[in-house]
Amino acid sequence: MTDAAKLDLPIRPRRVRRTPALRAAVRETQLSAGHLVQPLFVHGDDADTPLDALPGQTRWSLGGLVAQSGRCLGAGVDKVVVFPKIPEAEKTRRGEAAHDPAGLVPRAVAALKAAHPALCVITDVALDPYSSDGHDGVVDAGGEVDNDATVAVLVKQAVAHADAGADVVSPSDMMDGRVAAIRAGLDAAGHDRVAILAYSVKYASAFYGPFREALDSAPRAAPAGRIIPGDKATYQMDPANVREAQREAALDEAEGADLLMVKPAGPYLDVIRAVRERTRLPVAAYQVSGEYLMLEAAAATGHLDRRKAHLEALVGIRRAGADAILTYAATEAAGWL
Ligand code: PBG
Repeated sequence: MTDAAKLDLPIRPRRVRRTPALRAAVRETQLSAGHLVQPLFVHGDDADTPLDALPGQTRWSLGGLVAQSGRCLGAGVDKVVVFPKIPEAEKTRRGEAAHDPAGLVPRAVAALKAAHPALCVITDVALDPYSSDGHDGVVDAGGEVDNDATVAVLVKQAVAHADAGADVVSPSDMMDGRVAAIRAGLDAAGHDRVAILAYSVKYASAFYGPFREALDSAPRAAPAGRIIPGDKATYQMDPANVREAQREAALDEAEGADLLMVKPAGPYLDVIRAVRERTRLPVAAYQVSGEYLMLEAAAATGHLDRRKAHLEALVGIRRAGADAILTYAATEAAGWL
């Protein structure tokens, strides 16, 4: 209707959206490759195995991991976090393989740092890939995850990763007091330069399903006579809570964490914001496997623009207050930016 009466409207917010140049000038949130961390899966086999549960993601051989990290670097993604799939036969109640200096993760870290010295290598510190119970910690005789016994093992695990050359260790187990213990253990072993990225606020989330399939690390059913929780609700947080998130973040900061993490990301944007507003530490967020799968599955129907949906989800996490984002889409997204 070109002959419609002109509105008497001096204030028109659309003026700054009129051209790409103006939109770029007023954009409040930037997303670039430097913000992104690529999670990569590794196993001890020679094959590179595509993962059903996570379209576009692969369980890499050691050689494949090194080659893929080169592709990440090529796209501008210079940070990776490594997750191992351990054969069932090597899993134990106390997860001893987690701190084997010749284990899969130390070998992967050493290979990555040798091939790509500029790559920032982050490792996950928790027992679930190594635990025959499928828990992040040691399950005691009564069927409970024993906090302090677990922390002692996590310290050894973190030191083994640092010995192999990890730049950052990332405890994802949610035991109480592990950040302080890991910091002390690293320092005593001469690793005062190794940073701790603490999963400070990690929820007992349904969105980890595809990851647990990829690593075969889901909590196991209790053997007869033992009570083992079939989920991680005794250590991971209740999705309903945000004051508790602030408390966990403050504790990890006081214990010496260098970066704080909130996980998952998309359903917890308010939590990212709440943590951001109360700390001066950098905040990371993990867009987890189920979040990635939701976007991939929706895009696969043809009814969602895959690239735009991924970038929108990531910019939303940045806008909520995250500095760094761990995302399975990291390398592709960097290519789109
Ligand atoms: C384990 C760990 C999990 C993830 C990262 N580290 C799974 C869990 O807590 O069960 C999930 C990541 C994802 O879903 O992408 N300590």
